[in-house]
Amino acid sequence: MTRLIIPDERGFAAAVEDWQNGEIVAFPTETVYGLGADATNDDAVAKIYEAKGRPSINPLIIHAADKETLAAHAEFTPLADELATRFWPGPLTLVLKKKPDSTISANATAGLDTIAVRVPNHPVARRLLKEFGRPVAAPSANPSGQLTSTTPKHITQSFPDQIPTVIIGGRTPHGVESTIIDLSGETPRLLRYGSITPEDLKPVLGDLETLLVTNNPSAPGQLLRHYAPRNALRLNATAPEDDEAYLAFGPYMGAKGKAFKNLSEAGDLHEAASNLFMYLHELDDTDGIDGIAVAPVPELGIGLAINDRLRRGSATE
Ligand code: TXA
Ligand code: MG
Repeated sequence: MTRLIIPDERGFAAAVEDWQNGEIVAFPTETVYGLGADATNDDAVAKIYEAKGRPSINPLIIHAADKETLAAHAEFTPLADELATRFWPGPLTLVLKKKPDSTISANATAGLDTIAVRVPNHPVARRLLKEFGRPVAAPSANPSGQLTSTTPKHITQSFPDQIPTVIIGGRTPHGVESTIIDLSGETPRLLRYGSITPEDLKPVLGDLETLLVTNNPSAPGQLLRHYAPRNALRLNATAPEDDEAYLAFGPYMGAKGKAFKNLSEAGDLHEAASNLFMYLHELDDTDGIDGIAVAPVPELGIGLAINDRLRRGSATE
C-alpha cells in the first residue's frame, strides 16, 4: 500500500524525514510526478532503479531548490548560467560536466562523467527540496517504458506496492517532461523535446541540432519505445475504427469509437500537453478496446514534445 501525504507542515516534515532515511518519496513537479530519493545515497538511488525496473545504464535527473546546490556537482559554463537564469525554476534540464569531487551517487549518473540537473517550479517540489537542502535524484514516476504519471492515482495504479509514499499536489500543470539540453560537448544539443520549446530557446541557443529519435548510447533514455500504453497507438488517425478508442485534437464532429477524449477542442497545444497522459491513461483503461487511435497534432511549439511522446508510445521496439 502506498501512503498518500498532504503537503502541509506535517506532510513536508514526514517526506523530508523519509528522504533523510534513504526512502523514496514521489512528488509533483510542474511537468510530471517524480520518484525522488537522496541523490548522494547509493542505496536510496538503487531503490529508484529497482522500483521503476529501469536499466542501470540510464541516468537520472538531479533536482534541487536552487542553482547553488547543483553547482557543487556540475560545471556551469557561461551558457549554462544564462539558461539557468532565464529558465529556472522551470522545465529545463541541463546536461553538464560532472565535477570530479561531486558526492552524487555514481548510480544516479550511470557512471557517466556528465550530470543532468534541474530546478523545478512547483510549490510542493520547491518547498520539499528547500527543506531537504540536498540534491534529489528523480525520474518520472512510471514503470520503465510505460505511461507517465501526471496524478497521484497514476502512481498508485501503475505501482501496486513499490512506492511507499506520495506527497500529493493534484494534476501536474505542464503534463510532459522537461526539455533536455546537453551542454557538455562542443555545441549545445537538444536531447529531449519538452515543455520549453525550441522557439523559447532560440534567443539563447539559435537553431539546435537535434539528436531525437535515435537510439544514441550517449542518451540512453532516448530509446525509441517509451511512454507506451498497454493498447497499441495508431497515430495521425482522422477517425477511429469501431473497436478503437479515439483521442481527438481540435474541433471534431466525427465518430467517437468505443471511448473518446479530446486533447483540446480549441486546438490549444498547451492544453493538449497537459491532458495528454491523463487521457491516454483513461482511454487505456477502457475494457474491450482494440487500440487507441490518435488525431494528428501539429508539429510546432509544445506539439513537438507531444508528437515525440506519441511516436515513442506507438513504437513496437
Ligand atoms: O520533467 C522531468 O524531467 C521529470 C521530472 C520528474 O523532473 N523527470 C524525468 O526523468 O523525466 P526521466 O528519468 O524520466 O528522464 C530523464 C532523462 C532520461 O532520458 C535520461 O537518459 C536523461 O534524462 N539523462 C539523465 N542524465 C543524463 C546525462 N548525463 N546525459 C544524457 N542524458 C541524461
Ligand atoms: Mg521518464
